[in-house]
Amino acid sequence: MRMQGLSLETIPPIHIPFRFFLSAPWMGLLAGLALLWSGTGAFSSPWTPTLLGITHLLTLGFMAMVMLGAMFQLVPVISGRLIPGGATVATLVYSCLLVGLLLLSFGFFSTNYSFFMVAMPLLAAAFTIFLLALAWLMMRGIGGGDSIFGMRFAAMSLLIAVLLGLLRAGAYAGLAPLPGMNDTANIHIAWGLGGWTLLLVMAASYQVIPMFHVTPSYPVALARALPVAVFLSLLALTLVELPVVQGLALACLSASAVIYALTTIYLLNRRKRKIADITARYWRLSMTCLSLAALLTLVTYFKAIRSGVDALQLQLYIGLGILLIYGFAISVIQGMLQKIVPFLCYLHLQRRCLANLQLLKALPHMGNIIPAAHSRWQFHLHLGALILLLAAAVNSLFCWPAALLMSADFAWLAYTLSRAVSVYRKSMMEIETTQSS
Ligand code: HEM
Repeated sequence: MRMQGLSLETIPPIHIPFRFFLSAPWMGLLAGLALLWSGTGAFSSPWTPTLLGITHLLTLGFMAMVMLGAMFQLVPVISGRLIPGGATVATLVYSCLLVGLLLLSFGFFSTNYSFFMVAMPLLAAAFTIFLLALAWLMMRGIGGGDSIFGMRFAAMSLLIAVLLGLLRAGAYAGLAPLPGMNDTANIHIAWGLGGWTLLLVMAASYQVIPMFHVTPSYPVALARALPVAVFLSLLALTLVELPVVQGLALACLSASAVIYALTTIYLLNRRKRKIADITARYWRLSMTCLSLAALLTLVTYFKAIRSGVDALQLQLYIGLGILLIYGFAISVIQGMLQKIVPFLCYLHLQRRCLANLQLLKALPHMGNIIPAAHSRWQFHLHLGALILLLAAAVNSLFCWPAALLMSADFAWLAYTLSRAVSVYRKSMMEIETTQSS
């Protein structure tokens, strides 16, 4: 593992990121069970309320939950400064996000959109508190290089995605739309997935790929150019309605995603130690899905211009959503959790032992915190669920097996993460008992 330039003395208490990491798989499991319950109906159109509910259990409940938790952890380690507000800010963000996203999803499932009237202020509070705390830190000229550079764009994209999401939710709940802001659904999706998710994965990878996989670093010019290209393309897509500009912006966004994915795969192929590593397989899967999604985005866009939106086009949209959410984002997040959770458990335990080196005997082996066999199962469940979900986008008969495997995927993740925490707790108790005796 390569740790140069990291401030490992500036780490928040372990319960701050872990409350986000441990809750996220349960939201994914709820999404799987909701798909199981809704059966073949969910995939009949991209806009069915059930699919919208499932989508937000995944994008807010699983993805944003882990991504915010990871930022509470990663930003201090990279920049050398803690996010202000400590546990109070983290608790507020976590509670508002959890209750808000559950109410939003329940509003979709029940088609009783009055639930949005409570979900909206809670979600607005969660993201406002988080972004204000982050902005306070980022405006203080912190270090952190390419990763922090990319995270600034990710944070701005999150703000835009959330504002547009709140506007759409307000429209469902019967609030009057703002003038000129009627058809913002596609822009909301673009900023949520193409902006916030892609940019944060990019920014985090600049740090974690060389660190965990001992690869060369991303070329600095590319690491700086990609987030700018993605952000400007999204701005052009949002602000300029000319078809030629829209086409060019989409081409630039897709090209940036493919270049990023290919560079990541290239760097992983140049790992110093070429031992079997599940997280590297997750990265490859994720980057393959990202490239396919980028190409499919262009196909669906130009097909819609030539022949309008037909039934095939709607199935392609669903396939695109699955590739981006389950294939690209959830794969990389699951893969990172297999590395970050054992690393953090170990780091916190090790710090407790530094005063008395005798205590090091109580440290568990890092590989026992999440055993390799558990991670391999996780990968196979995840890959199986992804393939079946894509099959379900083509033929709804696959919905049931896809939902079953998706539920198993998240249930297994919930189990491995809870098991990791219990190994951590046991070792910490052992250290404390030895210390006091
Ligand atoms: C405060 C947070 C959010 C709220 C209130 C919200 C609300 C909404 C609403 C109301 C829709 C339906 C749009 C329509 O029918 O016109 C929607 C769609 C969607 N949102 Fe969000 N959203 C939020 C955050 C996010 C984030 C962060 C992401 C991505 C990371 C995301 C991804 C999506 C996707 C992919 C769809 C389309 C789903 C489908 O086709 O089934 N949302 N959102």
